[in-house]
Amino acid sequence: MGNEKDEEQDQEKDQEKEAAGRAAAKLVRDGDIVGLGTGSTAYFAVVALGERVKAGLKIIGIPTSVHTADLARAVGIPLTTLDEHPEIDTTIDGADEVDPKLNLIKGGGGALLREKVIATASKKMVVVADSSKIVPVLGKFPLPVEVIAFARTVVERKIVSLGGLPKLRLKADGSPYLTDNGNEILDCSFGKIADPTALARDLSGTPGVVEHGLFIGLAKLAIVGRGNSVDEIQAKPTRRKRAQTKRVRTKPPSRKRQTKSRKP
Ligand code: 5RP
Repeated sequence: MGNEKDEEQDQEKDQEKEAAGRAAAKLVRDGDIVGLGTGSTAYFAVVALGERVKAGLKIIGIPTSVHTADLARAVGIPLTTLDEHPEIDTTIDGADEVDPKLNLIKGGGGALLREKVIATASKKMVVVADSSKIVPVLGKFPLPVEVIAFARTVVERKIVSLGGLPKLRLKADGSPYLTDNGNEILDCSFGKIADPTALARDLSGTPGVVEHGLFIGLAKLAIVGRGNSVDEIQAKPTRRKRAQTKRVRTKPPSRKRQTKSRKP
């Protein structure tokens, strides 16, 4: 009984992810350089872009992970590198949490470093998410921090001094999970993060931290699946105003399964 309910909830979540991913893929225009995100929601955007490419859309993608590069090739999206195209028009990527100012926690799928490099090089970052990702305050999801193995213990101590509880991400066989860049990840429970900007600054200033999953002020638009519709939440340019939400009706997405990203 409980399992059936869980399955139903998973299916509803998948529908919201697909609705968000497909809606975001429609924003891409002919000639765009597109940052391709990682995770089970970005998956739907990449697949939808592949369909548009097959129908004649001319774009070049820059993937945020080896996994997404494989997917993009499989669906027929031509790829380039940041060296060849250091300016990206639009990046579509998922998130583990989204707050009312469109600050994000990312990195549940382990791709935070390349995701942040690509988001920062983009004119516009569009976040795609199911409705469970929207939170009033960031921090329920453990914050991923990518570290070089050499510095792990000192970084763990620093994180504890900042109020976090770090846990080394492990693979199923018990060995440390390694990112596409060969680094380790500490999943850090902070509880509610009252000041994400200050925490981001402290983490960025810690030697041995390669990158952290706080994305502050990078997302310009969030497309959030909610039932059969999607909400569009625009980041406001001023600090005082909060993001604005608009509800858009969409057709219910088809029911089909997708690959899952790894979560801590
Ligand atoms: C990968 C990420 C993902 O975008 C994030 O984990 C969300 O994934 P999903 O869409 O599968 O919930 O940051 O590093």
